[in-house]
Amino acid sequence: LFGLPDQAPHEKVLLAADAQTGLRAILAVHSTARGPAFGGCRFWSYDNELAALNDALRLSQGMSLKNALADLPFGGGKAVIIKPQGEFDRAALFAAFGRAVQSLAGDYITAEDVGTTTADMRGMLAHTQFVSGIPRDGGAFGGDPSPKTAYGVFVSIDEGVKRVLGRSSLEGVRVAIQGLGAVGWHLAEYLHQAGAQLIVADIDAAKVERAQAQFGAQAVAIDAIIAADADVLAPCALGATLSATSVPTISAKLVAGAANNQLATAAEGDALQARGITYLPDYLVNAGGIISVAREYRGEGEEGRVMAEVGRIRERVAELLERVRSEQSTPARVADAWARSKLVKPAA
Ligand code: NAI
Repeated sequence: LFGLPDQAPHEKVLLAADAQTGLRAILAVHSTARGPAFGGCRFWSYDNELAALNDALRLSQGMSLKNALADLPFGGGKAVIIKPQGEFDRAALFAAFGRAVQSLAGDYITAEDVGTTTADMRGMLAHTQFVSGIPRDGGAFGGDPSPKTAYGVFVSIDEGVKRVLGRSSLEGVRVAIQGLGAVGWHLAEYLHQAGAQLIVADIDAAKVERAQAQFGAQAVAIDAIIAADADVLAPCALGATLSATSVPTISAKLVAGAANNQLATAAEGDALQARGITYLPDYLVNAGGIISVAREYRGEGEEGRVMAEVGRIRERVAELLERVRSEQSTPARVADAWARSKLVKPAA
């Protein structure tokens, strides 16, 4: 069904429609085994409702695995709002979405994802208390999760480069970044500071030019970034970039990036391994953002503690690579089994 990587059933799926604002949204609760389902809201143009449903189901399942591996007391969920065609009132649309979130009575907690902003989240506060990712007055911790996501991806690449490529540092390591958006840009900053050489592509030419000027990055066409002559490939745009057609063209030996659902199908996990490419599963490396909004939501932690928690993604990457070696398996399979074994209520 719907091209899902497996048939794990969802607990609840709400199709929310509001004629007045033009809202059409899907709120998918995959699992509440660990706690309320937590995951961002995507605002995107879809060809049809089935495509939106497919995205919501895949993304919410990924959130269950992500939250479990990150040891968060939350289950997995995700929402997608289908971008209306023509004119629309954004504030009213998100207010209607907030009411839909509220109607689930806390089974689902929302935050930013592709296409949504901290302002959208703040606007929803009048309509639901089940929202996070909001800058707080008085300098308290919270807000845009993207820098935290980028930090988690950065430490994952750093660990992978040491363990997989056998390099002692990122100095001179060539990293191809697909997508210089909220996460990709921060990742580029971290990598540049660490001495990596950047190869970049984005459909937005202005971002590419900025990366050339600021980081001395090499620009390549968007259809050339996957096959770029690099040591590491970091997909930071949208999902399904690792497909039956793209995997045979990759020259990097390590793939680690922020984009959700990078593998088009489970088969690509095996295909990468067969080509001697180590793939660090997206939901393991990109958990920094959800760690941030989850701690914010619970009123726990401040910047330094949250960054330290995000930094522990490095230890999970190390453990994953150890398990892959001892179990003679692939990172995708090991991470999937590891995460699923944690889809139970955490000990208090
Ligand atoms: P964003 O929308 O800010 O950035 C995406 C960038 O990719 C944009 O600059 C866009 O122009 C570019 N892009 C789109 N299609 C492209 C293509 N074919 N080739 C090259 N560039 C392309 O999104 P954001 O927040 O940076 O997220 C990136 C990915 O990471 C998404 O898949 C998102 O779901 C995932 N993610 C983001 C988190 C966050 O904290 N923002 C947390 C976890 C996952």
